[in-house]
Amino acid sequence: MSKPLNIGMIGYGFMGRAHSNAYRQVSQFFRREYRPVLKACCARKEDQIKAFAENWGYESYETDWRKLIERKDIDVIDVGSPNNTHKEIVLAAAKAGKMIVCEKPLAMNIAEAEEMCEAVEKAGVANMVWFNYRRVPAISLAKQVVDEGRIGRPFHYRATYLQDWTIATDVPQGGAGLWRLDASVAGSGVTGDLLAHSIDTAEWLNGPIARVSAATETFVKERVHAETGKKQPVGIDDACMFLAVFKNGSMGTFESTRYARGRKNYNTFELNGEAGSVFFDLEDPQYLQYFKYSDPETGKKIESHLTGWQKIHVTNPEHPYMKHWWVPGCTIGYEHTFTNALADFLESLETKRPVQPDFRSGLRTQKVCDAVLDSAKSGRWVEIS
Ligand SMILES: NC(=O)c1ccc[n+]([C@@H]2O[C@H](COP(=O)([O-])OP(=O)(O)OC[C@H]3O[C@@H](n4cnc5c(N)ncnc54)[C@H](O)[C@@H]3O)[C@@H](O)[C@H]2O)c1
Repeated sequence: MSKPLNIGMIGYGFMGRAHSNAYRQVSQFFRREYRPVLKACCARKEDQIKAFAENWGYESYETDWRKLIERKDIDVIDVGSPNNTHKEIVLAAAKAGKMIVCEKPLAMNIAEAEEMCEAVEKAGVANMVWFNYRRVPAISLAKQVVDEGRIGRPFHYRATYLQDWTIATDVPQGGAGLWRLDASVAGSGVTGDLLAHSIDTAEWLNGPIARVSAATETFVKERVHAETGKKQPVGIDDACMFLAVFKNGSMGTFESTRYARGRKNYNTFELNGEAGSVFFDLEDPQYLQYFKYSDPETGKKIESHLTGWQKIHVTNPEHPYMKHWWVPGCTIGYEHTFTNALADFLESLETKRPVQPDFRSGLRTQKVCDAVLDSAKSGRWVEIS
């Protein structure tokens, strides 16, 4: 018999939907001791949250997250609201002894992230940051390939995260979805929104980044604010590029923008090592590309007339997560990355081993993001402690 785990979901937007879908699916596909129950959801607009609760099958709703946290029948608080709300919600939820799963970026800056980390650690509550891309089976396979020694000594890491949805000058800032363009709500632009993902993946695959040198640009300097109706200066970075030196001596380049015409969610990385390389593109997410130069065990070179990039269709039961889904050749999608992440969180409750990425790992990403923004301001290399 599985044990119920009562969920309190904050936010009904993009992530409210993605997480709710995962709560509804996970027990059907993964055998776990705990079974999420859609106990309550929360947002400020009553008509909207009521409709959301009915649509997704939540038993109840709240219009104030404080009330949700006070409720004795809630085990897990899920923070799916904009970045400027994360800290206050997390501190209150930790104090109330709730488990917390929080969207990325963990916080607006390092100081907030440190406070949040200390709060969950002091309270001893389970915690996770929704860096869902780690749970794309092809990206998990890249991690396995690295851990198996198939890349060898790493030389280069190259990441891009490109979109094109803010090129028009009449896109407003502020309000649902568009809070991303308002620095007071988002904290930063593409650095916290998109590069946080790239940095989390990069450090997971290639270890810690030691120092960075960055440049940012804001192409559209003023936008109408949806809430005030007035034109206001834009405080976010529309685009960011940075150079990185990893602790293992390899070199990295990272580029992110919302001005790459034609690119929708072009999240790619390539890692080149002495023994091999891997390449991934989220717009072609079923595949991991792998170049094998030499055998990791014997060190013997592959005969050169047989070398070439392999495009691995990551759908076999031997591939990460795939034995829980369909038969070989049948693909899974974006939404399943959240279900896979949730399955790992539920497993961590059974094994009592903290799930990754936890808040401490989210703090680490925040440190790199802040260093990138500091470097863009000063024009200097910034060391990451
Ligand atoms: N992991 C990912 O790939 C991913 C993707 C998108 C967004 N995110 C993150 O998820 C979070 C939410 O982003 P989104 O795209 O879902 O935004 P969204 O604008 O679609 O939804 C935000 C939700 O938060 C609610 N909300 C705002 N203030 C609130 C408050 N004070 N109390 C209760 N509810 C409140 C809004 O009503 C809305 O339902 C952000 O931190 C974002 O960075 C992560």
